[in-house]
Amino acid sequence: MSIKTSTADGVATLEIARPQKKNAITLAMYEAMTAAIVAAVADDAVRALLVTGQPGIFTSGNDLEDFMQRPPTGEDSPVFRFMQVLAACDKPVVAAVTGAAIGIGTTMLLHCDLVYVSEEARFAMPFVALGLVPEFASSLLLPRLVGHARAAEKLLLGDPFTAAEAVDLGIASAALPAGEVLAHAHGMAVRLTHLPPGAVRDTKRLLRAGSKDGIARAMQAEAAIFAERLASPEAKEAFAAFFARRKPDFSKFRPGREGRR
Ligand code: COA
Repeated sequence: MSIKTSTADGVATLEIARPQKKNAITLAMYEAMTAAIVAAVADDAVRALLVTGQPGIFTSGNDLEDFMQRPPTGEDSPVFRFMQVLAACDKPVVAAVTGAAIGIGTTMLLHCDLVYVSEEARFAMPFVALGLVPEFASSLLLPRLVGHARAAEKLLLGDPFTAAEAVDLGIASAALPAGEVLAHAHGMAVRLTHLPPGAVRDTKRLLRAGSKDGIARAMQAEAAIFAERLASPEAKEAFAAFFARRKPDFSKFRPGREGRR
């Protein structure tokens, strides 16, 4: 199974484990992660969640082949359910970013509470280069966090960035040597389990209260355009180029309707 789950000492751990495909997340993996989060929220023995990947790779984002063959269709689609459940999780979520975090690998961090990243990790949200648009309310949360101009570099240009910049932008709490990040993040999750759980829950709710409704609205708006974009010739060209290991050619598209359908 490509998602490994375990619970110990009050911490529910979700480990993305598909290293041969750079931890690309399939529909089945989204379903497994959603089920794990729902179970962790319902389990009174769990006081914190920990999300992690494999050495050198957190996740390369959505599995592009899966996305082309079985694109998300609406609010019940596995990727959308995962986003809703993580965004609504009322227990603290700690991320141990063990390596590259691409696409949803970066945007999911905007919904985690404590984010520890490997100094070697690289981040990118290359949605536009794939003919797509941002997801997971990143079009709302990123400019709010870092300002429009820096958000545009990351979301329009898809510029990759380092662990140090992720900390500087406020996406990550701290950068650590690669070999220490998981133990450090786990230690923080354990620290959370020793705190009064009601106060932790209420504080998380207050921290998120100002953005909760906006996040739901942004995710819906993004999802509608994302689904349309996935079916676009632009996305088809970008995805085909990725799998053919060639540079995509967008020169024939115009910024009118041609590129959309
Ligand atoms: N979806 C599906 N398959 C993916 C994938 C993804 N998001 N990311 C990597 N893979 C697959 C590759 O196709 C390759 O499969 P193969 O061995 O059967 O050919 C395998 O994982 C290894 O990837 P590769 O590109 O050879 O590794 P790399 O070390 O050179 O590069 C990445 C790693 C993560 C930089 C690169 O794979 C990448 O850019 N992936 C796509 C990221 C992306 O655009 N994500 C979507 C955001 S919405």
